[in-house]
Amino acid sequence: MGRLLDFLDDRLGIVSAWRTSMSGKRPPAGIGFLRTLGFAALTVCALQFLSGIALAFHYVPTAGLAYDSIRAFEQEVPGGAFVRSLHHFGASFFVVLAVVHLARVFFTGAYKAPREFTWLTGIGLLGIVLGFGFTGYLLPWDQKAYFATNVGTEIAGRTPLLGDALRTVLNGGDEVGPPTLTRFYVIHVVLLPIALLGLLAVHLMLIQRHGVAAPGRPVGDEGSPGLPYFPHHTLKEAIVGAATAGVLFLAAATFHAPLEALAEPSDAGYEPRPDWYFLAAFQLLKWFKGPFESLGTFWLPNLFVLALALVPFVDRTPERHWRKRKLATSLGIATIVFVATLTILGALDAPDNQRVLRHPLGCTETEKLGYLALRRARCLECHELEYAGTRYGTEDHDAPRFDELLAERYAFSTFDAVLRDPEGELGTEDMPAFDYLPDVERAAIWAFLRKLVPEKQ
Ligand code: HEC
Repeated sequence: MGRLLDFLDDRLGIVSAWRTSMSGKRPPAGIGFLRTLGFAALTVCALQFLSGIALAFHYVPTAGLAYDSIRAFEQEVPGGAFVRSLHHFGASFFVVLAVVHLARVFFTGAYKAPREFTWLTGIGLLGIVLGFGFTGYLLPWDQKAYFATNVGTEIAGRTPLLGDALRTVLNGGDEVGPPTLTRFYVIHVVLLPIALLGLLAVHLMLIQRHGVAAPGRPVGDEGSPGLPYFPHHTLKEAIVGAATAGVLFLAAATFHAPLEALAEPSDAGYEPRPDWYFLAAFQLLKWFKGPFESLGTFWLPNLFVLALALVPFVDRTPERHWRKRKLATSLGIATIVFVATLTILGALDAPDNQRVLRHPLGCTETEKLGYLALRRARCLECHELEYAGTRYGTEDHDAPRFDELLAERYAFSTFDAVLRDPEGELGTEDMPAFDYLPDVERAAIWAFLRKLVPEKQ
């Protein structure tokens, strides 16, 4: 056994690496559970990779199939719904833990010399995590995804000088469409993982190089060494990592990741709203309108990030204890209160988007075309439809209910004639003519309605 280890160590250097980094390393005395938050974030990161790979095995990254592939994964693959929820809530956990870890580093002054670059790589990692959130959001291709991404790429489009180019590159055109999905998918599963792993490697190497900052001691005073890193601090990390994973699993098993109706760009009444961790930025947009718009979309958010990045270079005092850093500590608390307030204001201001009919899984291409045409034509603004126990549409119209109409014998020829010329067929002016629709779309609407409401025998 010992000979085998010697052999391997001679070739690979793993045993000595283990000794220098873990069992032989003695971090300063007094480091406790607060120093495990980074590891908790790392645990969630690993789970995101695993659940993400499982999702990617089933996901079809095209506008026509993305939504149904997600639903098929949830409904037909054992554990699919759980895995998707895990990935969905995992994103939030990742953001929360990264931010709390950053706050810990800030309030303990751990970013000070010689750890400035550890801090910088950390800020970069947080940016990447948010990038994952932003690009991942579009992938289910539901209403929320489509409209929130439109807001996001619009904001990118208002960047001074580069805006138009940036928006066009992200969208793959003027607005969000099928090419956007392809691009966001590539960013989400190729570019960001590479960036994350690269930067994470540097971050961890720097942590190895400089060790943990001695709690409460000024710069230059690395305190007295405590117990070896392994197994003492690693045990704390294992406990916190396992607890984090446990809470995430519980959340994913209890709550279901939301999924709205299939995206339909013509749905002008839809009020977009981003995921909660972008709500603060979203709230700024509402405040700065007209000539001050770029203040909310570009200047304030970017100056904030810049200020954060510059923290270790501006704050050059040696003190690390929060009580001896009155200005830094108060600024930190003020920032947290401000961002939290913006987020809460954004959350309170929730739009009530009405329930949109969802097409059932297993529709043919024609039926799906009919489903989207029905939504574009706004038939359900006058007609009601009861499907799978839910009523869609408005009650305050004398238009017949689709489910009642079609349950009886109703021929496509009648349907088609009514759509083309309601006034001639029914003598009504209450229904607009749909003679402008291509023949295939009228037939497709019929096919879709027939799928939902089969004729009674
Ligand atoms: C602006 C409101 C409105 C919209 C939008 C509308 N309808 Fe109608 N529709 C009506 C009203 C009102 C009637 C009943 C007219 C009557 O019988 O006097 C009707 C009647 C019909 C009928 C005939 C029912 C019968 O008794 O034979 C069909 C079929 C129909 N609508 C289909 C559609 C479809 C499909 C769409 C979407 C492409 C649509 N309608 C959009 C208001 C609307």
